[in-house]
Parts: sequence; C-alpha cells; structure tokens
Amino acid sequence: MPQSQMIRFILNDEPVALSDISPTMTLLDWLREKKRLTGSKEGCGEGDCGACTVLVGRLLNGELVYETVNACIRFVASLSATHVVTIEHLAGKDGELHPVQQAMVDCHGSQCGFCTPGFVMSLYSLWMSNPAPSANDVEVALQGNLCRCTGYETILKAALKVAAERPDALVDPVMRNRAEISAKLEELKPKKTIRQFAGTERFIVPANLSEFAQVLATEPNATIVAGSTDTGLWVTKQMRDISPVVFIGHLDELQTIQQTSEGITFGAGVTYSQALPVFKQHFPKIAKLFYRIGGQQVRNMGTIGGNIANGSPIGDTPPPLIALGATLRLHSMAGPREIALEDFFIAYGKQDRLPGEFVESLTIPFLPRNDHFAVYKISKRRDEDISALCGAFRIALDDENSVTEARIAFGGMAATPKRATEVENFLKGKPWSAETANAARDLLSSAYSPLSDWRATAEYRALTAGNLMLRFFAETTGEAIELQRYAMQEAGE
Ligand SMILES: Cc1cc2nc3c(=O)[nH]c(=O)nc-3n(C[C@H](O)[C@H](O)[C@H](O)COP(=O)(O)OP(=O)(O)OC[C@H]3O[C@@H](n4cnc5c(N)ncnc54)[C@H](O)[C@@H]3O)c2cc1C
Ligand code: FES
Ligand code: FES
Repeated sequence: MPQSQMIRFILNDEPVALSDISPTMTLLDWLREKKRLTGSKEGCGEGDCGACTVLVGRLLNGELVYETVNACIRFVASLSATHVVTIEHLAGKDGELHPVQQAMVDCHGSQCGFCTPGFVMSLYSLWMSNPAPSANDVEVALQGNLCRCTGYETILKAALKVAAERPDALVDPVMRNRAEISAKLEELKPKKTIRQFAGTERFIVPANLSEFAQVLATEPNATIVAGSTDTGLWVTKQMRDISPVVFIGHLDELQTIQQTSEGITFGAGVTYSQALPVFKQHFPKIAKLFYRIGGQQVRNMGTIGGNIANGSPIGDTPPPLIALGATLRLHSMAGPREIALEDFFIAYGKQDRLPGEFVESLTIPFLPRNDHFAVYKISKRRDEDISALCGAFRIALDDENSVTEARIAFGGMAATPKRATEVENFLKGKPWSAETANAARDLLSSAYSPLSDWRATAEYRALTAGNLMLRFFAETTGEAIELQRYAMQEAGE
C-alpha cells in the first residue's frame, strides 16, 4: 500500500505506518495485543475508569498540545499525524523513574497497581501543562480516573509534591523533543484522502472539509466518527458494525472558534477542552457544566458537534444552547443550511439531517447584559455521570421587573431536548415574583411527560424540574422562597 494511504503516527519514539487496519480496532487493543505494551490497562472499556489513559499529542493551530485520552474508546485509524505517548515511555532508558512516577512511589499512591498507569498518565499531563496546580486542578485532572484501593489522598499528595519540586523539564522525553516532534507531525498530516479496507470493513480519512462532503455524498450511511466518546461504546459495549467509517477528528476546518459582535461560532469538531476557555469568558454557567461532563479524557476527545449530532435526549449541551437561542449550520455538497438548534431534534433517534449532510458549526448569540441565565444538571453522582435531567432557564426583565422574554429547555424530560413553551408563555408579562415562580413551578412540573428509568422516576423528574424553577428564581433575585408543598404529595395525602 502506498505511504499516502497509510495511517501514520508516532508511538513513543517509534514511527508507525499502518495498512489493513480495522476501523474498530481500539488504541488499547492495538497497544496491548499488537505492540505488547501492556502498561495501559482495560478496566471498563467505556471511558469511565481511566485505567487505559495515554497521551495523544497533536498540532492544534500550529501548536503542539498533549492531552489525555481513553485508549479503550479511541480508534487507531483516527490517529493520523499524532504522537501517542504510553506509560512505557516515561521512565529513562536506564530504568530511572520519571519524576511523576517517583512522586507516586514516595507518597504511596499505589496498592494493587491496576489503576496506577492511568493515574500517572493523567498526572503527567497535568505536570506538563500546569506548573503550579491547585488541589482543585488536580481533582479536575483526575476526575476520569478511578481507584478502588488506595484512596485519593496519597495520589493528590503525589501531584502536589511533583509540582512543588518541579525538576528540570529536560528529564522528560516529550518536553525535550517538542520542536522535532512538531516538525514530524506536520509532515505526517494526510495530504490526500486515505481509504483502507480490512476484510469487509473499511474506513475513510478525508483530507479536508470539501472531501468530507464528497465522501458523504457517495456514502450517506457511513458512520461519522469525531471524538468517538459515543461511537467508541457502540463498538466496545454494543458490538455494532459501524463500517464504513469516516473519521473527522483531525479536520482543521471543523476546529475553528470565531467571535463576531453578535456571538461565537464553534466548529463541530471543537472539543470541550478546546472550547472551555471561551465558554469561561462568555458563557461561564455552561463552562461550569462542562466540568460535569465525563472526565478530563472524555472532555479532551468529545466534541460539541458530536453531543448535538448524536440526538440524545440526555446530552448536556442542547438544553442550555437552546435556551440561548443557538443555531446550527449543516453542510453538504448542496451547500450550507442553517436551522435553529431546537428544530434539529425531531423525535427520538430522528434529527433534521438530510442524506449527505453533516454538522459544520454551532453559533451561540451573546446573552444580552441584563438577561438572567442558568443551567442545572441533576445526576446521581457529581462526576462522570449522565444527567437524569438537565434544565436551562433564561429570562429578560423590563424596568418594572416584569418578564419580557423567557426560554426554558430541558433534557431528560422528553424524547428529545425540548422547550417548555407553555411555561414560557405563562411567564411573559408577569412580574418576576415568588408568586409567579411558584405558579410556573407547578406548570413546569406538568409540562412534560417524562419516563421512569434507572436514572430517575417520572415523578422525581417532574418534581425536580419544577423545583429548579424556584432555584432559578432564588438565584436571580437573592430572595428566599417559601416552598409550597408539591401538588402531587398533597393529592396523595
Ligand atoms: C465516560 C463518558 C462520560 C460521558 N459523560 C457525558 C455527560 O456527562 N454528558 C453528556 O452530554 N455526554 C456525555 N458523554 C457522551 C459524549 O462524551 C458526548 O456526547 C460527546 O460530546 C460526543 O462527541 P464525540 O465527538 O465523541 O462524538 P462521536 O462519538 O464521534 O459521535 C457521536 C455521534 O455524532 C455523530 N457526529 C459526530 N460529529 C458529527 C458531525 N460533525 N456531523 C454529523 N454527525 C456527527 C456521529 O456519527 C455519532 O452519531 C460521555 C461519554 C463517556 C464515554
Ligand atoms: S478501560 Fe476504563 S476508561 Fe478505558
Ligand atoms: S491501586 Fe488498586 S485500583 Fe488503584
């Protein structure tokens, strides 16, 4: 096979060129089974435990960035022009431990050791990117790593110890070779569209956006894979055949963030981690929500476009983005098409995406200065948990404190992310008072017909959605609100 059709990347300090690779071969299986690099472990196979954590370096706007990823749900065929760094690369040739590994030993951060390589890789990434992490920074970096025996205190100590001592960065195999690695990755970027077959399976890595559109025009049923934090699980947990696959995570055109006087446009391939600084600045409530999505590894892989395109009724970004009035830009060979985000979700599993179309970008208008906005995620655990429900509220008030505009959207309450138009209409023109909020709460509790499942019962969802209205009122006004008893409880008495 010619070089131009191969998947080429760097593994630790070895160049790799692969042909005949299955589109569903995970990086973890490939490392362990083909390369016999067994330091990275498989705990869950679904991006939850972090035992498989490795670093992937890539050129982002010309800058070399290294991020932790879950090798168990990352496909090898998506690794073109990257630098994969595994735990085996950290110790020196003479066996001398890397400072991060040494700190784990010194602080007794390991017992059975199964989770340890994953923890070390997450701490290594933090050490590389943040010279003075706070305890909170360490917790965020480790949100996606689970340990069942050691307890996190010693691991936290190791992270702070290595940061405080901060030895010469030149002991590090990645930091001392950055310029050389950047040049190599630039060279490895696919200049032509790559197509590979492995038995009956096949995949395509388009060279650019227009080739992506052409591929989809001829293969409208191909599976698009961006960050693979959903599609990875289709393979590892559901054993689905997803061939043919189009990998798009590398496309620079989908990774842009552009600001105008009206709002910000995010390319569909922008990951949560990439988008975070911009959200912190302009939409801080959504930035806070991002910290409740997966762990750091998932946020480094998962894209905003994927969270919308998957059509899930419990995706976390659609409710706040709908409340803010975001629009979606779809693209195909026929050209671009813009729709309101809320109109994208037609029914369960059905989105307004025509054959050959893909999600190109998302535009979020700025929140007018005096509008109030909040988003609340309700899940059983704070970290690494999918929402039982997620509600977003936005209101505008006039000088008399009356509601002039209201947008409320929920996930987890219907077959799609959905606005509560009845409640919005009720609020318009009303004074923003405890009485209004209480009445809106009752309306909101009966506005949807949620399901019961193992995340929450229908009654819990209805009750909680209503109560979030009261929380929003209390937060926007600073007024304590006397909770009226919930109508269903009263009816049951
Ligand atoms: C451990 C773990 C925790 C998670 N926690 C949360 C959570 O708390 N909240 C939450 O909302 N989600 C969560 N997720 C789900 C996931 O991270 C998000 O949905 C993510 O945003 C999906 O993006 P992706 O790029 O990984 O999508 P992929 O898996 O690559 O694709 C997802 C879907 O979108 C389609 N797609 C992707 N990009 C495009 C495009 N540009 N155009 C058209 N179709 C496209 C794919 O074909 C597929 O149908 C979690 C996942 C994991 C593994
Ligand atoms: S094996 Fe658990 S996150 Fe990969
Ligand atoms: S040391 Fe045993 S799972 Fe963490």
